[in-house]
Amino acid sequence: MARFSEDALTEAVIARMDKCDNPRLKQIMAATVRHLHALAREVKLTEAEWFQAIQFLTATGQKCDDKRQEFILLSDTLGLSMMVDAINHARPGSETESTVLGPFFVEGAPDLEMGANIAPHAKGGAPTLVSGKVSDGSGRPVAGALLDVWQAGPDGFYDVQKPDAGMDLRARFRTGTDGKYHFRTVKPVSYPVPTDGPVGQMLLKLGRHPYRPAHLHFIVSAPGHEPLTTHLFVKGDGYLDSDAVFGVKDSLIVDFKPGAKPGEFTCEYDFVLKAA
Ligand code: BEZ
Ligand code: FE
Repeated sequence: MARFSEDALTEAVIARMDKCDNPRLKQIMAATVRHLHALAREVKLTEAEWFQAIQFLTATGQKCDDKRQEFILLSDTLGLSMMVDAINHARPGSETESTVLGPFFVEGAPDLEMGANIAPHAKGGAPTLVSGKVSDGSGRPVAGALLDVWQAGPDGFYDVQKPDAGMDLRARFRTGTDGKYHFRTVKPVSYPVPTDGPVGQMLLKLGRHPYRPAHLHFIVSAPGHEPLTTHLFVKGDGYLDSDAVFGVKDSLIVDFKPGAKPGEFTCEYDFVLKAA
């Protein structure tokens, strides 16, 4: 009967992957085992604590359905999503920086005419005109770029968080030959990430607040360019320095300036895409 020391056990588990014919899977799983074992050793994990962790992960999975993604929320609040972003999307040049996707993106948002209002049902938000252009790294306008945009309403909730709301506060726009875009909406507000699940409990126990600074979400894509997943944050928001998901980058903070009428705002931002 084999007996393993703490160190030998780690290597024995990794050795069992010898016949794996997918080198990348093997690399990732070996590193996962190494880091998990190291974590257990570092904190001298007790059986009760590990069982508590298993219960937490079980509850996280059980909270997920076709509209709720608690694992994305966990990844985001632990900073893992932004770590993966930092590793994969370094943009030292003029290209627009990326940030988290978040759990509220929905495929198949309606294709609207340029200039349309994406917030026709919003109650109480400040009317806002969002505009700018999409260009490549050399400053050339990108024609036919698809802007997928979504946001929370003035109540701080996304459509998918409300029963039977249907698609709201989200749309897709396509640029013309000038690369320009504009649409109407309401000024975004800061809001808490969902706290009614295990991740909310985790934040509470860790003494962390759940708020995200006000933002608009975008995925900007065009043939020949890397798709860009990003936000525009509202300058002056009180949570810019303590975003619950660590998604803020200075270059994505925009001054929402007073608009044509009192109480209205404009947000101007030019997206620069990276060549694929
Ligand atoms: C969001 O901005 O929609 C979001 C991102 C990460 C976690 C929760 C919400
Ligand atoms: Fe959001």
